[in-house]
Amino acid sequence: MHVIARKGWEIPESLATPESVFLNRRALLTGAGAIGAGAMLAPGAAFAQKADPSAHLYPVPRNENFKLDRALTPEDVNARYNNFYEFGTTKNIAAAAQRLQIRPWTIKIDGLVEKEREIGIDDLLKVVQLEERLYRMRCVEAWSMTVPWSGFAMKQLVDLAKPASGAKFIRIETFMDPKIAPGQRQVWYPWPYVDGCTIEEARNDLAFMVTGAYGKPLGNQFGAPLRVHMPWKYGFKAVKSIRRITFTNERPVSFWEKAQASEYGFWANVNPAIAHPRWSQATEEVLGEGRRVPTLIWNGYGEFVADMYKGMEGEKLFI
Ligand code: MTE
Repeated sequence: MHVIARKGWEIPESLATPESVFLNRRALLTGAGAIGAGAMLAPGAAFAQKADPSAHLYPVPRNENFKLDRALTPEDVNARYNNFYEFGTTKNIAAAAQRLQIRPWTIKIDGLVEKEREIGIDDLLKVVQLEERLYRMRCVEAWSMTVPWSGFAMKQLVDLAKPASGAKFIRIETFMDPKIAPGQRQVWYPWPYVDGCTIEEARNDLAFMVTGAYGKPLGNQFGAPLRVHMPWKYGFKAVKSIRRITFTNERPVSFWEKAQASEYGFWANVNPAIAHPRWSQATEEVLGEGRRVPTLIWNGYGEFVADMYKGMEGEKLFI
């Protein structure tokens, strides 16, 4: 039985919001005072990395089918306000996350597939079609961002894996290395971070495997070199720094579900009418803008996803 320590995203919004405002303000002050406005949008410079061997692939062409009705979250705001519990329970993990070595990096594809394999991230990038999509991202902590993600349709991954007919679910697992990830030494959490989806969800047009953001390879704090984004679901479904993808006939039990089954379920679709035990989901803070807006069911993507859940009224579809 795990002892559950207070999670970072359990901090009340009244505490979380000033942190983001503080970080923003600090970034703005440093940027404006020291190096001018242009540099304020270059957080990569603050977290020097070895050159990413995939850098030449970016920027990738934008797919105009994925449009936004909101301004993009400035990169500097997004890059300094992250959930990545392997590197700490605050939002301020960007510097610590630079310890993750993202090359060499392989991803194991196993379980109920035609042939199990391990593929290097750069080999994977050669066989998928990269594009940019502008997406909303809604965290269950009731904040949201809008991000220009680069990556490839998740259905390309399913096609590559060739799942057997009995496979229904995909279990997605991150890296495990407590030497560089201090959070993984906190033994009360059920490491490694895992989440998943159905194969039907993965084949949905919106489901996206993310390899870059803001026209560059993904920064470590965003989950380099590969993460998920399913914009109609809460952000905790978006496993970062993926190491293993397993096709299975069993519904995966996620990290948060294992940690606190009374608060987190498998589907976790966004719904303003269903409150999380500790946060109302009715509205969200738009990060970087300091305003709250009403949250939309399915995070505004119902037209593309609601049909998948028809006839599943008995399921806990939200949270
Ligand atoms: N993936 C891993 N490996 N570890 C994490 O702690 N946090 C999740 C998700 N993916 C998490 C993770 C949560 S709670 C959220 S809200 C999003 O990542 C945050 O993504 P962002 O930092 O890019 O906004």
